Amino acid sequence: MNQNDIAQYIAGIRMIASGTELKTVTRTTDFKKKEAQQINISAPAELVEITITSNYVTINNAFTVQIKSHPNKNASRPTGRMANKVVIVTGAAQGFGAGIVELLFNEGANVVIADLNAEKGQAAADHLNALGYGNTARFIACDVTSLESTDQCVAETVNTFGGIDLIVSNAGVLRAGSIEETDAKTFDFVTKVNYYGYFNCVKSVTPVMKIQNMVQPEYYADIIQINSKSGLKGSNKNFSYAGGKFGGIGLTESFALELAPYKIKVNSVCPGNFYEGPLWSDPVNGLFVQYLNAGKVPGAQSIEEVKQFYLKQVPLGKGCSPKDVVKAILYLVEQENETGQALPVSGGQEMLR
Ligand SMILES: NC(=O)c1ccc[n+]([C@@H]2O[C@H](COP(=O)([O-])OP(=O)(O)OC[C@H]3O[C@@H](n4cnc5c(N)ncnc54)[C@H](O)[C@@H]3O)[C@@H](O)[C@H]2O)c1
Repeated sequence: MNQNDIAQYIAGIRMIASGTELKTVTRTTDFKKKEAQQINISAPAELVEITITSNYVTINNAFTVQIKSHPNKNASRPTGRMANKVVIVTGAAQGFGAGIVELLFNEGANVVIADLNAEKGQAAADHLNALGYGNTARFIACDVTSLESTDQCVAETVNTFGGIDLIVSNAGVLRAGSIEETDAKTFDFVTKVNYYGYFNCVKSVTPVMKIQNMVQPEYYADIIQINSKSGLKGSNKNFSYAGGKFGGIGLTESFALELAPYKIKVNSVCPGNFYEGPLWSDPVNGLFVQYLNAGKVPGAQSIEEVKQFYLKQVPLGKGCSPKDVVKAILYLVEQENETGQALPVSGGQEMLR
């Protein structure tokens, strides 16, 4: 930690965190503000003495720590399967992400809507806060293609809510096209959001989750990537997307191996198509319009015929909704004996092998 850094003591998880630079996060052992006159800090390596004066402490005359209890920690709804949890969902301004965030909020979670789209993201947070449930939603501007941005999002989340229990790496883009049609720039764009974006989320969030596990060794945290059925089976003229999603499952399996000792579970959820979301239904750029205009579905004369063509490929005969995905997320969070899995939620369109 640099000289003059201002750090915060976050009561909920007994952690000292720099407000600006997450890599310098350190933690206390079992410090209670009223009792302790001394804090042992596990990193930097040597133990240092901290003198408490009022709401501030000075550590070895090097930097000042502001003692700040997390305001929301005890204010959340007492009920709900995610009560008191802190969740970041990337790409949550619309589509699957917006549905996921709303349903987890309804289950009592404090949520961070991390998205490029400030207008929709802020509106979604305002809408949730107006429900008056007691838990809190926050919009944080975030570009998952930038590690600096995901670091900043995680730092702000910790400073607001006192920790992170779950990150849902959901932000994703799709640019379909044949090999001839797809240029390097398009391939790079899709890969940066869908593949690198997942890595950036994991890189930013793991220092915090590891500290939480150090403080509470029995504590589990979760990383969940929203993958796709296209991460399990190739997608014709849609290789930029499918390739990144396949790669995402490789990341999930590898992260799961590396992070298991810290009780950080890492899993992917692989949804089927969400026909009501903007990706498919946007009247200008949606996939229904694109596929109809491109003649991708032989003989289809209307959007309804395009939709029926895709629905016929699903044994359960329906599309996938945020509710279906959140049921999978809740399962993955609540169970304590599974990691590194890719869980299909595709109405049977993709089955495990
Ligand atoms: N819609 C489907 O049918 C479907 C099916 C299977 C899987 N998925 C996956 O679900 C996830 C969400 O898809 P969707 O259909 O809801 O998409 P969407 O296009 O409706 O929403 C994506 C959101 O991500 C945000 N975003 C885009 N780039 C970003 C970036 N660099 N940083 C931060 N935010 C960014 C957008 O602003 C938007 O709010 C994706 O990972 C997608 O691959 C979607």
